[in-house]
Amino acid sequence: MKEKDSMSILDYETVALDENDNSVVIIDQTKLPGKTEMIKLHTAQEIWDAIYLLKVRGAPAIGVAAAMGIYVLARKIVWPIGQSGTVEMDFTDFYEKFAEQKDYLNSARPTAVNLSWALNRMDRVCRQAHKDGRTVEEIVEILGREAREIKEEDIRVCRAIGENGLSLVKPGDGILTHCNAGQLATCKYGTATAPIYLGQERGYGFKVFADETRPLLQGARLTAYELYSAGVDVTLICDNMSAMVMKNGWINAVFVGCDRVAANGDVANKIGTSVVAAVAKRYGVPFYVCAPTSTIDLNTATGEEIQIEQRPAEEVTQMWYREPMAPEGIKVFNPAFDVTDHELVTAIVTEHGIARAPFGDSLAALCKK
Ligand code: MRU
Repeated sequence: MKEKDSMSILDYETVALDENDNSVVIIDQTKLPGKTEMIKLHTAQEIWDAIYLLKVRGAPAIGVAAAMGIYVLARKIVWPIGQSGTVEMDFTDFYEKFAEQKDYLNSARPTAVNLSWALNRMDRVCRQAHKDGRTVEEIVEILGREAREIKEEDIRVCRAIGENGLSLVKPGDGILTHCNAGQLATCKYGTATAPIYLGQERGYGFKVFADETRPLLQGARLTAYELYSAGVDVTLICDNMSAMVMKNGWINAVFVGCDRVAANGDVANKIGTSVVAAVAKRYGVPFYVCAPTSTIDLNTATGEEIQIEQRPAEEVTQMWYREPMAPEGIKVFNPAFDVTDHELVTAIVTEHGIARAPFGDSLAALCKK
């Protein structure tokens, strides 16, 4: 276990607003764990690229970055050259530009519903403020408040998921997780890691196993890094080792995050999650999906309807390697996510409680809270 450094990765904010500079500030996660570099995003193109290139990633963090991003862009529509250079603008002109930027940001990644959820929430607030007779300048201020509230809410929600998740395990348990649903994927605590962090605060002594998560290694680069920095007992394993650690009896529960939950309880999460779920079923290990209710998409009936992002072949063949690890021109299949059938899911842990089968009823009830 690692001694706590004076400044750990957990002391940095995953996503923040710099009002003076009118930018979204993020940790560039593609540089972790080697380098902690904060970058500022000023333009629609920079925000879109940061989301697409996974500089900011993880469903809730993408949502917060998009909400803050559309606020920064809304300010730019009204104050293109700073606060002193206000452009006289009526709502129709403002909203046309706002909607265009919103649609552009929404096109960055298709699977995590939190992206469209956050942008649609900002859009509703914008239109409501107009209906309430607010000026365009006031509407921009209201958008700023909403973006900051989405971030604060994320912290409260993750903590509540942590409390609910903690009720499912006991001190000394072995926990396996896949990808990064940690603080780096949210604004604090993470979703799948929230029970681990709360357990750590309370001396639970969990033994965590982190799948490295090919091809982009979010498990190795991010989950292992943040848990290790927090002093958690964490062991890194390759993705193909999860069956062995479960067969050995080292795992009492699997906790994973999620990008979209369909109304029937099918869940889309990082590629490889469904393999872990199938192995967990084989060895009788409970498989828990941790998700804020903002990740539950009752408009999507089943996992069949979830659009799965396809990513470039280079991520599999050469990214992270000093030289290509596959023959040039080889055919590559690189879906970023897979769908775990609800039959393999023991429970879905949200901020409002724990949903169990039949998920159609339990999820709908939780979303009403
Ligand atoms: O491609 P990524 O790194 O954005 O994928 C992230 C995941 O799959 C996470 O498990 C999910 O977004 C939940 S984050 C709390």
